[in-house]
Formats: sequence, structure tokens, C-alpha cells
Amino acid sequence: MLPLDASTYLLVLTGAGISAESGVPTFRDAGGLWEGHAVEDVASPAGFARDPLMVWQFYSERRANMTAVAPNAAHHALAEVERRLGDRFLLVTQNVDGLHTAAGSERVIEMHGNLMRSRCSVCDRAPFEDRTAYRRGVAPMCGVCQRAGRDALLRPDIVWFGEAIVAGALPRIETFVDAAGAGLRFLAVGTSGLVYPAAGLVDVVRARGGRSWLVNADAPANARSFDTVTLGAAGKVLPEMFA
Ligand SMILES: NC(=O)c1ccc[n+]([C@@H]2O[C@H](COP(=O)([O-])OP(=O)(O)OC[C@H]3O[C@@H](n4cnc5c(N)ncnc54)[C@H](O)[C@@H]3O)[C@@H](O)[C@H]2O)c1
Ligand SMILES: [Zn+2]
Repeated sequence: MLPLDASTYLLVLTGAGISAESGVPTFRDAGGLWEGHAVEDVASPAGFARDPLMVWQFYSERRANMTAVAPNAAHHALAEVERRLGDRFLLVTQNVDGLHTAAGSERVIEMHGNLMRSRCSVCDRAPFEDRTAYRRGVAPMCGVCQRAGRDALLRPDIVWFGEAIVAGALPRIETFVDAAGAGLRFLAVGTSGLVYPAAGLVDVVRARGGRSWLVNADAPANARSFDTVTLGAAGKVLPEMFA
């Protein structure tokens, strides 16, 4: 049980596990492989440079799969808590599926980007909404670059291994933690605790004296850093979690 009162500031971190019950597989459930490809091959700048067609096929397939996917009880429970806490709530997600926003969450930092946006791999035009599932063998080109006389591939607006998280994410989290003071509470859901800087958030909260909760299907690498660990499915646990 995570008690909420008038002084509570709740910082939430979610990972792929919260969307598993919506039918979006986690990497780990897929054995870290996709049709024989290592995750690094479809989620790194080097993999994209080597084989952009294969990488676009991967993300196009994920886009196509999203049309049948909806938020689950865990996403809805967090949106409900946000309605109670308002600005004393901040949700940081590693997910790129957009399901938190679809559930009605507003104070969301998508620190790894969004599957339904693309950007240019060369120029600095703003990322734009792109729900297109491109046909096998198609890698889209940047129209802005084309008009300037150069060929440049578009890429998904997703943070890949070795790339910096979304600009502004850490300062926004710091501002929230500063405002929270002794009221800071931290909840992590469905994340294997391996991917930094997200995995280090629990230590930031501990250093500030805040209490922390973890809800996950199994005990992840950093489970011992949390005050309370609940092993279980997010869609079952979260709706009953907030007092
Ligand atoms: N839905 C998505 O957007 C999506 C899906 C796969 C991968 N990714 C990306 O891959 C990276 C992988 O990191 P990660 O730690 O988020 O994922 P991960 O796949 O490494 O770990 C997911 C964790 O969720 C747990 N889990 C599985 N089902 C659960 C459930 N029903 N309830 C609670 N917990 C459950 C697993 O035990 C595991 O520890 C992320 O950075 C993310 O950007 C995103
Ligand atoms: Zn461009």
C-alpha cells in the first residue's frame, strides 16, 4: 500500500513491464531477440547505419502492432493518481508506446522517445508524428534534406543504446525532486533496473530520504534498493496500491 496525503509528491518510473498486459512484449520476454536479431542491432545508431531497411522493418512492425493495443488497468491507475495529486505527480517512462498518454496521463516524460514519431538522421528539423508502418524494403527519406539537395534517411524518434536521453528530462526530474522535499515518494513499475539513468532514480530518492516502492514480475537487479517490493503483475497490483 502506498499512502497518499496532502504532502505527497509521487515520482513514478515505468518500463516495458507495465505494457506487457496490453500485449506489448518486453525485450526480456522476447529473449532479447527479434527474429534472430540482437536488440542492439535494431536499437543502436551502428545497427541503423549497417542495415536501415531491417531497422525500419522492425519499427514498422511495432507500429502496425500498436493499432490493436490499448492501455491496461495499471496505466489507468496511474492516470487516476495523477488526477488526485496534480502537480505533485510526475511520471517518467522508458516506454515508447504512448500508452500512458492514451490512458490520460499528462505529466509524462517519455525519456526514450516515442514510436509514433520520426525525425531526420541528419538535419535538426523537429521530430514529427509518423504512424506509418513502411513496407518491407522501404526506408523513408527526409523531405527537408531532399529539397536542400542531399539524401538523408528518416529514423524513429527513439533513444537508442549509447544515445542521450530526451533533452530536458533530467532537469525536470530534479526540479520535481527539489520541490518534493520530505514528501518525496518513488514508485517503479515493470522495469528490469538495468538501463541507466532510469535505474539510478531509486538511489537519488534514497539520498533525499524519500521512500520507494517497486512493482515488478520478478526481482530485478536493483530490487534491494527499494523499501517495499511487490512481485506481481502491474495490472493487478496498481489498481489496489494507493490508499
Ligand atoms: N512498451 C514499450 O514501449 C517497450 C517495449 C520493449 C522495450 N522497450 C524499451 O526497451 C528498454 C528495456 O528496458 P525495460 O527495463 O523497460 O524493459 P525490460 O524488458 O528489460 O524489463 C521489463 C521488466 O518488466 C517485468 N514485467 C514483465 N511483465 C510484467 C507485468 N505484467 N507486470 C510487472 N512487471 C512485469 C519483467 O520482469 C522485467 O523485469 C526500455 O528502455 C524501453 O525503451 C519499450
Ligand atoms: Zn533532414
